[in-house]
Amino acid sequence: MKKVIAIDGPAGAGKSTVAQLVAAQLKYVYIDTGAMYRAVAWKILQETTAENVTNEFITASINDIDVRLSYIEEKTKVEVNGQDITDQLKIPAVNKLVSQVASIGQVREKLVDLQRKMAKDGAVVMDGRDIASNVLPNADLKIFLTASVEERAQRRFKEMKNKGYAVALNELKTDIAARDRADMQRKISPLVQTKDAVLLDTTAMNIDEVVQKILSMAKN
Ligand code: C5P
Repeated sequence: MKKVIAIDGPAGAGKSTVAQLVAAQLKYVYIDTGAMYRAVAWKILQETTAENVTNEFITASINDIDVRLSYIEEKTKVEVNGQDITDQLKIPAVNKLVSQVASIGQVREKLVDLQRKMAKDGAVVMDGRDIASNVLPNADLKIFLTASVEERAQRRFKEMKNKGYAVALNELKTDIAARDRADMQRKISPLVQTKDAVLLDTTAMNIDEVVQKILSMAKN
């Protein structure tokens, strides 16, 4: 059985849905690293307005930002400086800021350290952008999950609609494409498919098919 499973891929590829289901089946802990970067972005937006956010401001603030992620009864909870902000993580303002926050070395250093500590006992499924390449290079199974931009925007659209957010599909598509670009082109730990990762293009697959595929690889 593979004890440490890394799932990377672009925005909206279904990583968190799939990772959570795989973790539940294996009775592993699920670690949503995107939620940690989102938590930092959320906190920054409490300190200043989106127009006034600079890299210097983020760097100066990061020491005072305490992110805690817990996974209890198959649910992720994210707290920032003691406040539960789990249901705030996918708001449009956070979507827009998060890639800038994630491009900053000091932010990554702090969160990667936390991520490694959380994974040290194994039995984890961790998803993000740099898990296979940087956070857990010795993971037992590495998956690169992707889908077309159109399909990913459609999925996010449905997810947001179900949560009661009114967003335009076109805006989501532009946001996702911009985030892909920023995540793939940044200097520190960009999104890449490592040589040892298995590529899963889920454009034409349903969630259950993807989960079963990963489970079968995890069990071999
Ligand atoms: O996975 P999710 O869409 O929630 O991630 C939000 C953002 O956090 C990504 O677009 C990326 O900029 C950043 N991120 C990252 N490294 C990770 C996880 C997320 O840079 N391991």
